[in-house]
Amino acid sequence: SWDMGNYAEEQIKAIKDLVGDKKALCALSGGVDSSVAAVLVHKAIGKNLVCVFVDHGLLRKDEGDQVEHVFRDEFDMNLIRVNAQDRFLGKLEGVSDPEKKRKIIGEEFIRVFEEEKNRLKEEFGHIDYLVQGTIYPDVIESGTDTAAVIKSHHNVGGLPEDVDFELLEPLRQLFKDEVRQVGRELGISNELVERQPFPGPGLAIRVLGEITPDKLEIVREADFVFRDEIKKAGLQNQIWQYFACLPNIRSVGVMGDERTYSHTIALRAVTSTDGMTSDWARIPHEVLEKISNRIVNEVDHVNRIVYDITSKPPSTIEWE
Ligand code: XMP
Repeated sequence: SWDMGNYAEEQIKAIKDLVGDKKALCALSGGVDSSVAAVLVHKAIGKNLVCVFVDHGLLRKDEGDQVEHVFRDEFDMNLIRVNAQDRFLGKLEGVSDPEKKRKIIGEEFIRVFEEEKNRLKEEFGHIDYLVQGTIYPDVIESGTDTAAVIKSHHNVGGLPEDVDFELLEPLRQLFKDEVRQVGRELGISNELVERQPFPGPGLAIRVLGEITPDKLEIVREADFVFRDEIKKAGLQNQIWQYFACLPNIRSVGVMGDERTYSHTIALRAVTSTDGMTSDWARIPHEVLEKISNRIVNEVDHVNRIVYDITSKPPSTIEWE
């Protein structure tokens, strides 16, 4: 295996030699791979790397601000945040089919990125390189996998081939845990480096059926409470993914003397080694109790919490 300190240093030097004083562009999602790739290239070419972070309005609570803070303030990188929430939500209006949602988000992402790219060319001049956080498992999987056709994984950040650019993929030889190690060597916080996987289409596939701003708000707030309690219980590194999902059903409840008819939140938490198969996480009942109490107390329009106890297969990790 590689020595990750040396790996980072060698890559930085190689990128410096290759790119020289030319410019590079990176679609930054805030995920582990694109973050590590961007920081690595930034160490090599500084402000000649421009990172574009498209906020599609389907991120978790505070996520957009965190990405901005880490890369702009902590790493002093050239970061452009594109606030495209209204565009994405507009395109998704009335759409309830999961695959259609993914397709719309993937296409809109490319459109926004292309526009930004053209704008940047006017501003900065020619851009020669496109940085991508491709890692070794992406290279070996590349499309032949049967699981990949079950859901079209339009990875946001997965851009079409672009003849304008040379690809810069500094993580192509690394496995995920090696990417994390390189990230640590580069001074990226543990919180970011240990981040759980988050799907490109984001909360769009965690609000089942049609997406509305109100439903997004409910799932976002419930998810925030869930993550907070998992962290407080010290379970964040034992669970592969944990998140709230809005199944889009309402049921009868009671509050005071009043009958309520409100949303159900489903909690999903799984253990896995690669996301291909998974088991439901045995979260202690006391922790689940606390999460449930907090969500019904703190999140409006929710009167019932259920915990998903299915493995993959036959379920998938996400509900859509
Ligand atoms: P499933 O739900 O198929 O998910 O068991 C397996 C892993 O893939 C993630 N996932 C996605 N990631 N775009 C992504 O970038 C997608 O459309 C997508 N759908 C699922 C999921 O979160 C899990 O880690």
